[in-house]
Amino acid sequence: TRIEGAVAVVTGGASGIGRGIAEQLIAEGAEVVIADVQHDVCETAAAEIGAVALHVDVTSAKSVESLAAATLERFGRVDIVVNNAGIGPLARVADLTLADWRWMIDVNLWGVVHGVTTFLPLLRANERGGHIVNTASNAMFSINPGLGAYSATKFAVAALTETMAVELAEEGSDVHVTILTPGPVRTNIKASSRNRPAGLEGGLTDVDISHDPAYSGLRWIDPIDAGRITTRAIRGDELYAITHPELWDAVGARHDAIRAAFDRHPVVAPDAEPVADASAR
Ligand code: NAI
Repeated sequence: TRIEGAVAVVTGGASGIGRGIAEQLIAEGAEVVIADVQHDVCETAAAEIGAVALHVDVTSAKSVESLAAATLERFGRVDIVVNNAGIGPLARVADLTLADWRWMIDVNLWGVVHGVTTFLPLLRANERGGHIVNTASNAMFSINPGLGAYSATKFAVAALTETMAVELAEEGSDVHVTILTPGPVRTNIKASSRNRPAGLEGGLTDVDISHDPAYSGLRWIDPIDAGRITTRAIRGDELYAITHPELWDAVGARHDAIRAAFDRHPVVAPDAEPVADASAR
């Protein structure tokens, strides 16, 4: 998908990875709307990078629809949409309350769903086609303690986006999709609770894993690097934008375990007695 001359919308664009992607899109010649729930931060960021700031709360379908309408009013079309707004607080599954689940799913999954339902029809009707980037995480590929709720939303974003890729290809559509799957990026995700709605308090807490020995040895990159990796995937219509290829070992281990489970289960005739499986846990 062509970036030069494109009109792009980036949610969660006031900070971190969204801001980095916006900066890189602008560097490559796009006009960019950054949309965020933190409007003051968003306006400052927009002034600094040369974007347009609009307010959005991605948990609300109406709010995302208003964002689309305001973008169309201003630029007449949308070509690239980056559904990036997200939160990343941690809690072990046993400590998650329903309010925790609601907040996590509202932002990280419904936020993307609202972006897709609102913008996909606009992109499909767009003469020059278009591109949707959904920000997932390396946590869509592998499992870490404390990230159960987070990973659940990122696996869901992966499934949604991969299905879109298949369906759009089947249709021969000019709309393409990318899943951004970042490893560690220096952002404000460690302060996600600044945007936690009142009434949705629970067990999820902000953790700065850059100081956690359990996560030592990780390579931390800057948002602009994630931005460059994202625009390369947009230009090349690539489904996956991988920031940390070195994380394959953990991802591969999970896939190997799944493969092994498939291999050790014989094909069972429908009328056969269930077989006791020593490996079942
Ligand atoms: P960040 O906290 O710096 O930026 C997130 C932005 O989303 C903020 O500007 C925030 O105000 C906005 N936001 C939060 N709730 C919102 C809502 N309801 N409506 C609209 N905007 C909202 O964090 P970061 O790291 O830049 O996160 C961006 C995306 O990257 C998230 O989807 C996150 O899950 C993902 N990610 C981040 C990684 C990292 O290491 N920082 C690693 C993997 C994925």
